Amino acid sequence: MNKIKDAAIALKNGFLVAFPTETVYGLGSDATNADAVSRIFSIKNRPTNHPLILHIGSISELVDWTINVPEYAYSLANKYWPGPMTLILKRSKKVKDFVTGNQETVGIRIPNHEIALNLLNEFKKIGSGAIVAPSANKFGKVSPTTYDHVYQELSKDLNKNDLILDGGPSQIGVESTIIDCTNDLPKVLRPGAISTELINEVIRVDSDETPNQIRVSGSFNSHYAPNAKVLLDTTAQPGDGFLALNEIATPKDAIRLSSPINIEEFAKNLYAALRKADELNLKRIVVIQPKGSGLATAIRDRLKKASF
Ligand code: TXA
Ligand code: MG
Repeated sequence: MNKIKDAAIALKNGFLVAFPTETVYGLGSDATNADAVSRIFSIKNRPTNHPLILHIGSISELVDWTINVPEYAYSLANKYWPGPMTLILKRSKKVKDFVTGNQETVGIRIPNHEIALNLLNEFKKIGSGAIVAPSANKFGKVSPTTYDHVYQELSKDLNKNDLILDGGPSQIGVESTIIDCTNDLPKVLRPGAISTELINEVIRVDSDETPNQIRVSGSFNSHYAPNAKVLLDTTAQPGDGFLALNEIATPKDAIRLSSPINIEEFAKNLYAALRKADELNLKRIVVIQPKGSGLATAIRDRLKKASF
């Protein structure tokens, strides 16, 4: 608990804290501190018009950071928060341009991880209580799902007052579902563990495919990408990395990166497997994509972008 209190103090003092969530690790700062937020952008090499998700500790704080929240957004929040779901809502005046890249909307999430929730609660006692946090990786690269991933990728860019909290491997392994809640019906901007099926249990999803105006992580062509070339649903050659469900045999002389026994484990191991290929200096990774809806849709979305 002391570590978490120290981390809350670091945030209050304008330093960065990388922390675990159930989806991926985030690189966090006080959402109201312009200098701290600008350090996140520069460490990640992230374009400043690419908005950050604001993390809060309880639904009661939503009114501080948003306006005109539709009833269905509260229904989603009540059902799936804390959890792997980000809601895009109209921002209140408290959310500054340096968080949203001048957009009038803000992405909000309550993460479902004990350390993240404790950190948010501690930070609420002494500071703004809102932590903006993109995934703790360089822009366009593979998201981190362990402490080691964050350390390897960002430690040289952090200073001695910044912290990385260790919460073990992220249980879900792919980023939150992003749902635009600024219209009459919710629209999925980035698929994740809160699937269209789960959203439909609360309110019908707008399935109109017209591209959205607002920017979403991964709406650039290449994203979530390792150095190795990612090839989808093709035959692996000797020396290629290989990732598929356990039931699919490893092609001759390919290097098995992971053998997940189901879709959940596929998502959980996905980014570690892509990173492992880079550690082994492999040139190519062949992935046999999981079929079906739900989390498999999110896995295919990330793999498609990793393969550009
Ligand atoms: O699971 C997650 O969502 C993780 C953990 C750390 O919470 N965070 C994460 O952040 O994936 P990031 O920055 O890597 O991807 C979030 C994306 C942003 O890149 C941005 O495009 C989109 O969410 N986003 C944020 N605010 C938005 C807004 N107002 N309108 C549209 N998209 C927004
Ligand atoms: Mg990211």
